[in-house]
This record gives sequence, structure tokens and C-alpha cells, in this order.
Amino acid sequence: MAKVRLSSQRPVNEESLARAHSPFLESVRHWIEPSESISSFRGSYPLHPSISHKFLFTLYYKVLYYEHMTSPALFAPAPATSCFERWYRHFLDNRNDLDSLPWREPYRLSATELRLVGHSVQQFQLGEWARGRGFRRRAAGHVGFATDQWFLPALELFIAEEQGHSEMLGRFLDHEQIPHLTNEWTDNAFRRLRKFAGLELCVTVLVTAEVLAMSFYQALRDATRSNLLRSICVRILCDEAAHLNFQALTIGLARQPLSGRSRALRSWCHTLLFRGTALLLWWQHRRVFRAAGWDFGRFWKDAGRWFALLQQRIREAFLDRDYSAALDALRLD
Ligand SMILES: [Fe+2]
Ligand SMILES: [Fe+2]
Repeated sequence: MAKVRLSSQRPVNEESLARAHSPFLESVRHWIEPSESISSFRGSYPLHPSISHKFLFTLYYKVLYYEHMTSPALFAPAPATSCFERWYRHFLDNRNDLDSLPWREPYRLSATELRLVGHSVQQFQLGEWARGRGFRRRAAGHVGFATDQWFLPALELFIAEEQGHSEMLGRFLDHEQIPHLTNEWTDNAFRRLRKFAGLELCVTVLVTAEVLAMSFYQALRDATRSNLLRSICVRILCDEAAHLNFQALTIGLARQPLSGRSRALRSWCHTLLFRGTALLLWWQHRRVFRAAGWDFGRFWKDAGRWFALLQQRIREAFLDRDYSAALDALRLD
């Protein structure tokens, strides 16, 4: 059985990090270098031990590992193995231990924070929850994926990880004595949209929300003084960054049999869906973004960057080409 080459098998140090050039790594780099607004209150609110720099660097290295693991070179056919075997092992290794979060921190959201972020956390807690029955059914019925012995097990663990996000946010709501939502119209609309068609559309709709979640959780992290909520955001950001690559691989492989024109049409439709959803998300959660110092332009640019990266990953997954240059760019030693 082919073994994944973990990043720990290569010497990784800060110098090598500085040499690693990738839009994804660049975007992740600022997670461990929070914005000025955070730096300004860090003096009066030192980081909780659970999100110390060591912890953040560990997460950063994990993201480096995801990046390496999901590099296009690894999408190339390998004998007697599946690219989803790596994903299965990743989700297995990445199972979150919720108890390691700072649940005992005494800080409670202020009345202003509650007004700015409370409803958004409620909505995302509901949106993160999915039983995944439709997803499993579509995967089991897909001619390409049903025969991959690793896809469904990886998918099971992916769904469990998403449920873990909902559980984390749910425990935070309980911690703050904020009620859970049971129903919300945008959540209903997205769930209905996912039911319309096959696996590819289901994943496309899901990943659209995940792309926008990257911008949202960065803003939520910077909009609060709660170390607990900030820790939750950092953990979800790391997981979601990996999810984008997982979904890109699934979509890319699902589009492999299509003509270039069909792929371009689907990509265009996806862009429309993304732009429309981005406008809706900004409208619904603008208080969180503004509290974090983001204006609409910054949100639009950040979300667009994540979406462009996703599309690039999708293309890499279905294009047959020499991946050595991309691999070189990710080499850390
Ligand atoms: Fe999630
Ligand atoms: Fe996700």
C-alpha cells in the first residue's frame, strides 16, 4: 500500500517556509500573523495557551502537509492505489479533539459582540450540520466514484469532520447561552439546491459555501475578543482549507470525461453561483466583516482569491500534464 510522504519526512523550518511560494500558503500565512486590529488588543488579551504561537505553527504545518498531499502530482494515477486513500488517512489523522479547546475560559461575549456575531454563529452552526445521506447516495451511484474503494470511506470521515464543526459551534452557543437555530431560509435553499442533481452539482454547491466560509471565519476570528471563538475559527479554517482541495479533486475527476466546452460552461455557471452567494453572504453577515475591519471590497477580493484557487485546483485535477513544476514549487527542503 503506497504511503503518503508526510511533511514531517522533510526537514521543515522557518527558512524553508519563507521559500515556499504558493498563493495558498501566502493566504494561510496571515492566519498566524493576525491583523493589526488583533495585534492591538493582544496586549490586553494575551492569546490563550491553546492558541499559542506553537499551536498556530503546528496548524500551519498541517496546512503545509495538506498542500503537499493534495498537490497535482499526487493526482496522477498511481498503481494499485487511489488518491482518496490519502484523503481517508488525512481525515482519520485529523479527527478533532473538541476537549482541547479552551472551554473553561471565563471570557463571555460582550453585549456588542453578541449583537454583531451572535446570529451569524447561529446560522453557521446550522449550516455546518449535515447528515450527508444524499451525498453518500449520489457517491454510491456515481459510475466513477462507486468503484473507488477509498472514496466512500473518505467521504464518511469528511462528513464527520463537518459535523464536528457544527458541534464545536453548538457548544460555543451553549457556552454563551445563545439558542440554536433549527431552521433558516438560506440553509434550506442550499440544502434544496444540493438535492437537484448528481454528485458533481452536490459537491459544487457545497464547496461554494466552503469557499465563502474561509473569508467568514477569518473575519469572525478578528471580530471577537473571545479566545474560545478565535480558537474554533482557526481550527475550522485549517479543516476547510483542506476541504477545498478534497472537493476540487472530486469535481475535477467528475469532469474528466467532459469536453472542454462542457467544462468551461460548468465553470462559468459555478462562477455565477459563487458571485450570487457571495453577495448574499456579505448582506447577511456584513456586521461581522465590518467588526473585523473588512469593507465590501476586501471581502470580495479575499473570497475571489479563494475561489480562483479552487478553480485552479479543479483544472489541475482533470488536466493531463506534467506536474513536476508544481511539485518543485511545493518542495520545502
Ligand atoms: Fe465546515
Ligand atoms: Fe468543509
